Amino acid sequence: MGLYGQHVFPRLMDWVMSGQVWQGLRDDLLKDAHGDVLEIGFGTGLNLPHYPATVSQLWMVDPAGFLPSRVRARVAQAAFPVHMEQLTAESLPFPERRFDSIVSTWTLCSIPDPLKALREIRRVLKPQGVFLFLEHGRSREARIAAWQDRLNPIQNLIACGCHLNRPIDLLIARSGFHLTDLSRFQVPHVPRIIGEMFQGHARTTRC
Ligand SMILES: C[S@@+](CC[C@H](N)C(=O)[O-])C[C@H]1O[C@@H](n2cnc3c(N)ncnc32)[C@H](O)[C@@H]1O
Repeated sequence: MGLYGQHVFPRLMDWVMSGQVWQGLRDDLLKDAHGDVLEIGFGTGLNLPHYPATVSQLWMVDPAGFLPSRVRARVAQAAFPVHMEQLTAESLPFPERRFDSIVSTWTLCSIPDPLKALREIRRVLKPQGVFLFLEHGRSREARIAAWQDRLNPIQNLIACGCHLNRPIDLLIARSGFHLTDLSRFQVPHVPRIIGEMFQGHARTTRC
C-alpha cells in the first residue's frame, strides 16, 4: 500500500464516514447486535460507539491496520472486551458456529472475493445467529448501474479496492444465506452511484 493508501485514504474515509447521517445508520443497524460479535472490515473502528449493551465481546478483523492510534483510542472507550486481528474475511481463524452476530458496514464493496468471505461468515455464525449488513451497491435503475460500471475502475483506484457496482443482496443470497430483512434506500445528498444502500439481516436458516 502506497503513501496515499496508508495515510491519505484512511483519514479521508474516517472523516467522511463519521458524518452524522452515517452515525444514524450505524445506530439503526447495530441495535440488533448481541452476544459474541464479529465485525469484518472494521476500518478505523467507527462502529465501536454504536454497539448496544447486549454485546458481550467483540472480535474485529481487517487486513489494513488503518490509523492504529485512532482505533486503539476507540477500543479503549468500549464497554466490552474487544479483540482485534489484522486479517482478511476470506479466511477466518474461528471455529464453525462461533458467533451470535456478525457485522459488515460498507465492507463487502472492498473485499476482493466477497462470496468467499460471505461463505466464511456463514460458517462461523451460529444457526440462530444473525448477519447484520449495511452496504452500498448496484442500483436497480439501469442508467445508474451503467454509470456505476463505467466509474468502477476509478473508484477502485481512489477508494483502495472499493467497487460501486456489486449486487449485495444477490451475493448474500448466493452464498447460502436467507435474507430475512432487506431495506433498499438512497442516502440523501449523496450521489446515487455510491448512495444506494442495502441494509438488513441474513440468517443461515429461514426462521
Ligand atoms: C470503506 S471501509 C469501511 C470501514 C468500516 N466498516 C466502516 O463502517 O467505517 C472498507 C474496509 O474493508 C476492509 N477490507 C478490505 N479487504 C478486506 C478483506 N479481504 N477482509 C476484511 N476487510 C477488508 C478495508 O481494509 C476497509 O477497512
